[in-house]
Amino acid sequence: MNAPLSTLVLLNNRRPIRELPEELISQIAAGEVVERPASVVRELLDNALDAGTTQVTLRLLAGGVRLIAVEDDGAGIPAGELPIALKRHATSKIGSLAELESVGTMGFRGEALAAINSIADCLILSRAEGQSNAYSLDGRTGELKPAARATGTTVQVKELFYSVPARRKFLKTDATEQAHCVEAVRRHALARPDVVFAIWAEGRLLEQWRACGIDEAAKTQRLGDVLGADFIAQSVAVDYRAGSVRVSGRAGIPDAARSRPDQQFCYVNGRFVRDKVLTHAARSAYEDVLHGQRQPVYALYLEIDPARVDVNVHPTKIEVRFRDSREVHQAVRHALENALA
Ligand SMILES: Nc1ncnc2c1ncn2[C@@H]1O[C@H](COP(=O)(O)OP(=O)(O)O)[C@@H](O)[C@H]1O
Ligand SMILES: [Mg+2]
Repeated sequence: MNAPLSTLVLLNNRRPIRELPEELISQIAAGEVVERPASVVRELLDNALDAGTTQVTLRLLAGGVRLIAVEDDGAGIPAGELPIALKRHATSKIGSLAELESVGTMGFRGEALAAINSIADCLILSRAEGQSNAYSLDGRTGELKPAARATGTTVQVKELFYSVPARRKFLKTDATEQAHCVEAVRRHALARPDVVFAIWAEGRLLEQWRACGIDEAAKTQRLGDVLGADFIAQSVAVDYRAGSVRVSGRAGIPDAARSRPDQQFCYVNGRFVRDKVLTHAARSAYEDVLHGQRQPVYALYLEIDPARVDVNVHPTKIEVRFRDSREVHQAVRHALENALA
């Protein structure tokens, strides 16, 4: 059999094994973490929430390709730590395997900022709590200088994929990328009704969701604000507990089902996830009441002992692994069946 030409060339001109340069390593890692502007939005929002923000603002230009800026009023980053924040595997969130196994923050891998900085022009502007000055760090040049800002952080990401034209070609229209960015904010907003979210696009205010608090009523309020009053009118409350798993949220009545699965939100300990166990459990709960390809709508919040779920499965952290997936499947199924009965 004939080997492809490219393989032959490689075999004949074998190159020595070399360690890749830091920047290339980051660019490779960025391929996993950053697929499109919305991935950057997701990572920056995670960081803002981990910093304890009460109010976060996203600004977009050209669907996020020209500019993504996320502004928060969280704890900020001390000037001395700003350059470290952009390094790979640098994080303030975990320091040991034990902490990884019970991680309670959205981030922990310490790679998002480094990855983003390797494929875009980044500027971090931050003032740490208790400091009298803000500082800005230019990710490209490394220049650190005093700046003006209230306590909190702004991360500006310009010209995404400028150094990776191949990736840029995969981007859809600005309108589509913008819609994905808005969806990323929506997912966070549904998890955190206590935080104000605002989205600006091309200089216009696109969405703003006020703070409603943190209890069940607040969650319902936020669901209505984000998904519309119809979602609330056509859904019932879910509140179920089995063993170590608690499931709350809202489940759409069968009449609210849609042709696409675009209103199915699942959270595990506050993190938006896409998980086969959860979707399958939901699907089976609706089995008898939904026909054909109709897609149920729901927003489900699972609370489970962090030690019983592994969030370190995928670089984007959108997938999780449950230690006992049967337990989780049953809890979700019963939670929905009870609510819909
Ligand atoms: N908006 C922010 N406010 C405060 N600190 C931040 C913010 N964004 C990033 N940081 C700091 O920079 C570090 C690196 O961020 P990142 O690369 O996203 O990794 P991770 O979130 O996994 O720790 C964080 O651990 C945090 O200390
Ligand atoms: Mg992060």
